[in-house]
Amino acid sequence: MTTHQLPKRVLVAGGAGFLGSHLCDALLARGMRVLCVDSFHTGRRRNLRRHRNDPRFRLLEADIAFDPLPEERLDWVFNLASPASPPHYQADPVRTMMTNVLGTQNLLALAARHGARFVQASTSEVYGDPELHPQREDYWGHVNPIGTRACYDEGKRAAEALCYDHMRAEALDLRVARIFNTYGPRMRADDGRIVSNLLVQAQEGREMTVYGDGSQTRSFCYVSDLVRGLMALMEVEKTPDGPVNLGNPDEVSILALAQRIRDTMRTPSRIVFLPLPSDDPKRRRPDISRARSLLDWCPAVPLDDGLARTAAWFAQGGRARTGEDSFARPAE
Ligand SMILES: NC(=O)c1ccc[n+]([C@@H]2O[C@H](COP(=O)([O-])OP(=O)(O)OC[C@H]3O[C@@H](n4cnc5c(N)ncnc54)[C@H](O)[C@@H]3O)[C@@H](O)[C@H]2O)c1
Repeated sequence: MTTHQLPKRVLVAGGAGFLGSHLCDALLARGMRVLCVDSFHTGRRRNLRRHRNDPRFRLLEADIAFDPLPEERLDWVFNLASPASPPHYQADPVRTMMTNVLGTQNLLALAARHGARFVQASTSEVYGDPELHPQREDYWGHVNPIGTRACYDEGKRAAEALCYDHMRAEALDLRVARIFNTYGPRMRADDGRIVSNLLVQAQEGREMTVYGDGSQTRSFCYVSDLVRGLMALMEVEKTPDGPVNLGNPDEVSILALAQRIRDTMRTPSRIVFLPLPSDDPKRRRPDISRARSLLDWCPAVPLDDGLARTAAWFAQGGRARTGEDSFARPAE
């Protein structure tokens, strides 16, 4: 076997989280070797339990901002390490900022030292409360730099700046994904994201909470589509000139989403309205022309199918099973 035929060695930072664990599944299914680096700040061991006896999978419990990272041959680095939902990233805003700035810097330097290709998981939050709709990658955004979301929004913007500085200085092979709202199995029931909130409330027959009047819109991408997009972005031979939006352009109001979930689940739950949090974006829809033309990518899973799959996962006890956090393999 020549070197380029060897299985790829891939570092996934944040691989124990919602998106990262699905990405680890996809990489291992493709025969690659995966080193997952995660601090378990918001991730869970049970997301990776199925891989604990796979010799191609290793788990290192480490904080990308403050702990040493392993020096070894790497072909690809995916950086997904960051809390992603407002209650999680606002709980310790300084830590969120440090993860995105120091942590991303540490991973970029590691990738540059080993000549690895780098995919950064950025976010639609870099567009803030956008004045341009739908959002294209050349839009610079409308972000409150001192608000309660800034630790995440500005952290991710700073991380993008670092990425492109490393690309220019070290010819790093860089790809930046601006990810829009994604949902699916392994979302945490307690993370305050709209889809998991509404699904769990509907399942339990509780009041379904909508913030504001529910006219604000989002576009929801099912997790398998998103992971396929991240893989395509990593694999495409020609390095894209700039960030690439990954998300589902099918835009829906939050009230319509709540009604769809209520109807699908035939729940008696009432929809109640609570005050809108500060700096909440009013509209969100990706322009995915760039992903279509560069990656030949577009989402395939319709919202109703994805919601049904996610609801089934929550209904099967996806939230917490006793002993499921027992991934006991020592860190390597
Ligand atoms: N899910 C979405 O809708 C969405 C949208 C836009 C962007 N993103 C981005 O995608 C990435 C993954 O999001 P997710 O939804 O899977 O979130 P998640 O919270 O489920 O996963 C994040 C993972 O990163 C780990 N982590 C956090 N800080 C760390 C640190 N300092 N060192 C090591 N590990 C750390 C967490 O423990 C967790 O396993 C994040 O970077 C997020 O900003 C997600």
